[in-house]
Amino acid sequence: MATAIYPGSFDPVTLGHVDVIERAAAIFEHVTVLVSVNLTKPHFFTITEREGYLRRAVCGIPNVTVTSHSGLLADYLRRSSASIIVKGIRAISDFEYEFQMAQVNKVLCETARTVFIPADEKYTFLSSSVVRQVGLLGGNIDTFVPNCVASDISAALLRRAVLTEG
Ligand code: PNS
Repeated sequence: MATAIYPGSFDPVTLGHVDVIERAAAIFEHVTVLVSVNLTKPHFFTITEREGYLRRAVCGIPNVTVTSHSGLLADYLRRSSASIIVKGIRAISDFEYEFQMAQVNKVLCETARTVFIPADEKYTFLSSSVVRQVGLLGGNIDTFVPNCVASDISAALLRRAVLTEG
């Protein structure tokens, strides 16, 4: 089985992302988690921070690596000779946008094929934006993000909340 690329903003990584990574790692020989830019959203954490949190979150999964890319996913696919893109789907409402993206990527890179992996239903509500909002307002994010990075993400969010207030 081939290498699959799992691209996303991961701003920051959530337990829902890790669930999709684990599922993909059980299907594909290798999974590359690709921290990418999404021009439709302002990113809160830097690409280096996002990559660092992710790397710590998946260090126990042997066939998963983490890297980053600041250009088009299609260009990354061409350069790495990979063709499979993994996308996690939390609810049917995710599908319309992801289906459009799958088509765009196929137009930009003819060999690209997108595989949709449903996240566990217990993560349907969970998103990076929920983590940011709860954490910035001083709430507990321990059940939203991997244990090994929870206190660092929480501290980083609180630091920035204080800076913004000041
Ligand atoms: O976690 P997200 O924000 O839903 O992930 C979206 C992401 C980063 C996978 C998507 O925006 C992306 O592929 N970005 C790389 C640039 C690109 O190729 N965009 C698609 C062409 S419109």
